Amino acid sequence: MTEIYEAIKRSAARIKDAIAFDDTGYSENINSTGDTQLKLDIKSDLIIEEEFAKVACIKEIVSEEKEGKTPLHVEGIYSIGYDPLDGSSLIDVNLSVGSIFGIYEGGFAGANLKAAVYVVYGPRVELVIAHENVTLYRLNQKGEFVFIKEITLGVKGNLNAPGATQMGWEPRHKAMIDAIFADGYRLRYSGGMVPDLHQILLKGGGLFSYPATSDVPKGKLRMIFEVFPFAFVYEKAGGAAINGKTRLLDLTPSHPHDTTPCFFGSQTEIERVKQCYAK
Ligand code: F6P
Repeated sequence: MTEIYEAIKRSAARIKDAIAFDDTGYSENINSTGDTQLKLDIKSDLIIEEEFAKVACIKEIVSEEKEGKTPLHVEGIYSIGYDPLDGSSLIDVNLSVGSIFGIYEGGFAGANLKAAVYVVYGPRVELVIAHENVTLYRLNQKGEFVFIKEITLGVKGNLNAPGATQMGWEPRHKAMIDAIFADGYRLRYSGGMVPDLHQILLKGGGLFSYPATSDVPKGKLRMIFEVFPFAFVYEKAGGAAINGKTRLLDLTPSHPHDTTPCFFGSQTEIERVKQCYAK
């Protein structure tokens, strides 16, 4: 596992430089989800693939930017699902973006996740590793990720990050979000799941939701690259993550790009979601 973390750290340092200095424009490619790829999406994906190719314990990888799996080492044991540059459409307005990694053993199912890592490219570059516990690292001027602290979520927080287009929310979802705000929670939402979930984790808790909507009934966020890794992080930090009713890590996608409605938060807020979606 350490070798994988080191490859992710090398990738993160290289991606940070690409974000800072490369062309932020669009390429002529369209990815498997139908999004036009930024040149930075393609470059970040190549950097990660290059670094993972050096690690013998990685059997296969699947990227949000590619349709299928890429085999790496036959003797490898880990399968890695990753989103090289999540929220990349925020780069042109200079907001924070991230990379997300799920490290699986025995196929891409929530139950097979062994560790999760994400990187936030903000004013500073931070990296979070979830394995037995959740730990925060920050990139220093020597290019090293220095341990900062262990992250744990409070039982109840005070931040609310309500995702997806409100026009398409179910009435029960809207009622729940309104009630949460009426209880004094503060809105914190940038439109990038990495910084939005990172903020809730570091500020003690709250709720991030990306529900089913009338136009996207299976949600937008992808299980393998986005949802499972963050569900793992939140659970290991003492919080919870569900699709409304079921624990996210109990789900198994039938296709690498399958999506799901998702809710991540502290125990109190997730209990509230369960009550709302039980109706
Ligand atoms: O999946 C990419 C992503 O940018 C997430 O980081 C973010 O939470 C979500 O999409 C926002 O999507 P939208 O702006 O379409 O609601």
